[in-house]
Amino acid sequence: MTNSQNNPVRAPTPEAIAEAGALLRAGNLVAIPTETVYGLAGDATDDRAVARIFAAKERPSFNPLIVHVAEIAAAREIVRFDARAEDLVARFWPGPLTLVLPRIEGCAVSLLAGAGLDSLALRMPDHETARAVIAAAGRPLAAPSANPSGKVSTTTAAHVAEALAGRIAMVLDGGPCRIGLESTVLDLTGPRAVLLRPGGLPKEAIEAVLGPLEEAGTDGSAPRGPGQLSSHYATSLPLRLNAEAARADEALIAFGPDIPAGAAETRNLSPAGDLEEAAANLFATMRALDRSEFRAIAVMAIPETGLGRAINDRLRRAAAPRDNSTSESPPLAGSAALG
Ligand code: TXA
Ligand code: MG
Repeated sequence: MTNSQNNPVRAPTPEAIAEAGALLRAGNLVAIPTETVYGLAGDATDDRAVARIFAAKERPSFNPLIVHVAEIAAAREIVRFDARAEDLVARFWPGPLTLVLPRIEGCAVSLLAGAGLDSLALRMPDHETARAVIAAAGRPLAAPSANPSGKVSTTTAAHVAEALAGRIAMVLDGGPCRIGLESTVLDLTGPRAVLLRPGGLPKEAIEAVLGPLEEAGTDGSAPRGPGQLSSHYATSLPLRLNAEAARADEALIAFGPDIPAGAAETRNLSPAGDLEEAAANLFATMRALDRSEFRAIAVMAIPETGLGRAINDRLRRAAAPRDNSTSESPPLAGSAALG
């Protein structure tokens, strides 16, 4: 190990990746870049390592983690694939799609990682460094987003180092995350596919393969993701959504070419009105404007289509009431989950 205590951020050189693999095999936590957000990775087969993830994030342990694999074959050793899963991974892996499937018998993944459920959430990240670290560790990695539970996710190595200072052995710097929003979570444990969390893969792309999806929370019969809390991705400042006018004591998160003047500070997610660009900029912009000199952060309306659904989901949760009494109450409709 190097001076990881003082500066845990490392370039993803072959040596650093080998070191990360060794740290992970010894039960330590390493933050890794993915195409969606940074992940706080630990050995998914090691109960102690998984417990450390929950502790580092201060995450309620009823909320299960996503297990990351470097190849499809490794996923088949953990969960039972059906025809829908085969079709989806053939098209979308590696990529921002997480599938919830039944654990196979004798599955090596820690029960704690799945919060004791008989299903597991799995994905193969579309990021070379992430897959290289999984391969170096030689085992699947449990990796929630690398942020304290309930707070804004991280999309750069510097944000990870700041958000989880002193709690991780190493942060591998893969630059800013290309997509910038967490993966889409799809539950395939029942006869109907259920969208548990909108994310980096638009719902429309999945529906083109499977047909219409059920959405958790929109219909009482649909199962919900465990640990789905209404308040999440929270900034310290309150968020004011669908803002049409700017106020002088507010920061403004803008979108598109026509923006109101008069905010104390304005940052545009995408002047061209491009949802992919907006998604990639969202969390870094929330972080940059979350300063006590403003009274609130106003956010312009974002179209509810494609990646816009996932952007709006994160914004609604960031704007939801924060007091602890809400944190174990039933989730809002159109829910994303805690992480
Ligand atoms: O993009 C991502 O998905 C990032 C990167 C690091 O890969 N990871 C991430 O993990 O967002 P996390 O732990 O923050 O979110 C995990 C989500 C939660 O919504 C959780 O409820 C759901 O996956 N989940 C995990 N296991 C599940 C299961 N067995 N059944 C239903 N939902 C599950
Ligand atoms: Mg999260």
